[in-house]
Amino acid sequence: MKKEISISEIPEGFTKQISEVCGGNVSFEQFFEACGNMSWYDFVLAMPSLVFVVTGWKSNGKENACLHSWSTFAGSGADNFICILGKVSKSGHMYQSLKETGVCVLNFPSNDIYDRCIKTIGNNQFETDEITASGLTAEKALKVNAPRIKECFLNIECEFLWDHELFEGSQEVAVALKAVNICMDSERYDQSKLGRYGKNGFLFQIDQPTNPKTGETTPFGPGIIEQGNPIPWITK
Ligand SMILES: Cc1cc2nc3c(=O)[nH]c(=O)nc-3n(C[C@H](O)[C@H](O)[C@H](O)COP(=O)(O)O)c2cc1C
Repeated sequence: MKKEISISEIPEGFTKQISEVCGGNVSFEQFFEACGNMSWYDFVLAMPSLVFVVTGWKSNGKENACLHSWSTFAGSGADNFICILGKVSKSGHMYQSLKETGVCVLNFPSNDIYDRCIKTIGNNQFETDEITASGLTAEKALKVNAPRIKECFLNIECEFLWDHELFEGSQEVAVALKAVNICMDSERYDQSKLGRYGKNGFLFQIDQPTNPKTGETTPFGPGIIEQGNPIPWITK
């Protein structure tokens, strides 16, 4: 049976788990802020979105690397492939670098290097070369002046188009980028080789799926896509 779920009525079970994880009394606001200014609905919906690392140069010439999800990708006519980063913090290095340089690279990791990508979060200091410090290799992009991550199986080189607040006064913006070059490992061209899906392919961030009634969460690692059965394309 379908039920209505409020954005503000959060079950006690969820509060308890937060206290356990945070080791004391932490408000929802503080908890959601600490995990990226999220909302209760993020946990209730637990919708998958692609994981990638956005790279660019900081104003001091050091590499910036920012783990990202919450985004969408779509072509619009022969000359335009647009990447919409759904939620970019205005106070992060990535936004600053993008506004200063007008370019970035979206680097897609597979599971075998995800542990190193996570280290970019701990290596987020302004003075740090974040790609190198995380045990990854920075290489020159072909069409834009930004570093890209060699170990990632896919790199999308992008130019900045526009940004827009999510709502008036929001801490984050949506950012539109135009792809100007793609670099992909040729082993990924064909699903019979390494391919782009399954255990070695695209990774999806899924925020801990939560029972909206009890507040109980299920730990969930990065998601992967397995091939489904084709459905006959009968539209009428
Ligand atoms: C799996 C994952 C996905 C993330 N997705 C986003 C995102 O979509 N938007 C965002 O603002 N931060 C996101 N973050 C948090 C940033 O990666 C983190 O705050 C980063 O250190 C900011 O880097 P910057 O200062 O270079 O911008 C994500 C973190 C993780 C672990």
